[in-house]
Amino acid sequence: MAKKNSNFISARESRRISKANAKITKKLDDKLNRKHVSESEYLTKMHDEGNVVEFDDLHTCFFTDVGTVKAVDGVSFNVPVGKTVGIVGESGCGKSVTSLSLMQLLQRPSGQIVSGEIRLNLGDKAYDVAQMPIKAMEKIRGNVVSMIFQEPMTSLNPVFRIGFQLDEIIKLHNPELSDEDVKQRSVDAIKMVGIPDAEGIYNRYPHELSGGMRQRIVIAMALVCNPRLIIADEPTTALDVTIQAQILELLRKLKGEINASIMLITHDLGVIAEMADYVVVMYAGRVVEKGLANEVFLDPRHPYTIGLMESKPVINKTVDRLYSIPGSVPNPVNMPDYCYFRDRCEKCVEKCKGEYPPEIHVTDTHIVSCWRYLDDPNRGGNE
Ligand SMILES: Nc1ncnc2c1ncn2[C@@H]1O[C@H](COP(=O)(O)OP(=O)(O)OP(=O)(O)O)[C@@H](O)[C@H]1O
Ligand SMILES: [Mg+2]
Repeated sequence: MAKKNSNFISARESRRISKANAKITKKLDDKLNRKHVSESEYLTKMHDEGNVVEFDDLHTCFFTDVGTVKAVDGVSFNVPVGKTVGIVGESGCGKSVTSLSLMQLLQRPSGQIVSGEIRLNLGDKAYDVAQMPIKAMEKIRGNVVSMIFQEPMTSLNPVFRIGFQLDEIIKLHNPELSDEDVKQRSVDAIKMVGIPDAEGIYNRYPHELSGGMRQRIVIAMALVCNPRLIIADEPTTALDVTIQAQILELLRKLKGEINASIMLITHDLGVIAEMADYVVVMYAGRVVEKGLANEVFLDPRHPYTIGLMESKPVINKTVDRLYSIPGSVPNPVNMPDYCYFRDRCEKCVEKCKGEYPPEIHVTDTHIVSCWRYLDDPNRGGNE
């Protein structure tokens, strides 16, 4: 008999899965869609008041017809006030899903936060975003947390003028402002991101601007309500290197001006090295290593981080071939219960055959999930 293909799902099985999914997602969705929910249900306390957001064992899944995708599988990290946290990892490792969970912008009903906490510091109080209904989140989104998307042409509406789109955000969060005040704030925001002739741009359509200008407008939109946290998901990937450098510089400057924190998502290690105070390395929906940028860059411990560092080109270093990490990411529908990186790792030890490794402290701030450091966290990384 031919060997059964484990990736094959019969129509009957698929129907069964989709029925079971509908049951789960309806329950979660109904909870999100509730109106008039008392604030006490999602009030929480920050573990450290010095953080603007704390992800605590976050699990986010997509319930698809071929099975459940554990896109984010127990992610924990903090974003301290006024700091930049860089999140790196290869495509599909869950970087965007982590940030979309915080914004409650997951593709519903299939995408849902299943468990864990996302504690958001509002200054005088803290909310657990994972428990918040959609209605309550609408007041926070764009106001306390805002997001800069990768592709400006998809986040700007092509049929409305730039000014209209900026005004809309300001009006939504500040209904008491007069039309003139709203317009003034929009024009100021355009000036703030370094675009000359702000009044002229206010009346233009997105397609009339260059790519770099559009990205500046998207940044202006994200900052117009002085958010406490800016999520920048690959903010410069669609731009050429000169504009990229300008946009990064702009982000850094504006962050200082409005005293915000940045969660910077990218797969460009150069960008992280330049911008980030802390680095979080993700692999297949989990955090494999995190710490101060210096610690992770100068002393990477996890074999995946070491592989990432080795696979980036370095000026003045001659190599025949750039290093590439062998193998590919495991199928997100059927995640193994052992270290997800094991099948690609060249440095496995006996323990790797067992369950998923715990978080091991190398220093107070530097944490790695790898069995190699269980007995000796100070063992050299790149040996
Ligand atoms: N709408 C969806 N339905 C099903 N699975 C999804 C959906 N969106 C994302 N996923 C899955 O979630 C996982 C994480 O995706 P995510 O978009 O967070 O990756 P990423 O780290 O942002 O990658 P990239 O660097 O390419 O942006 C992937 O395995 C992806 O297939
Ligand atoms: Mg992404």
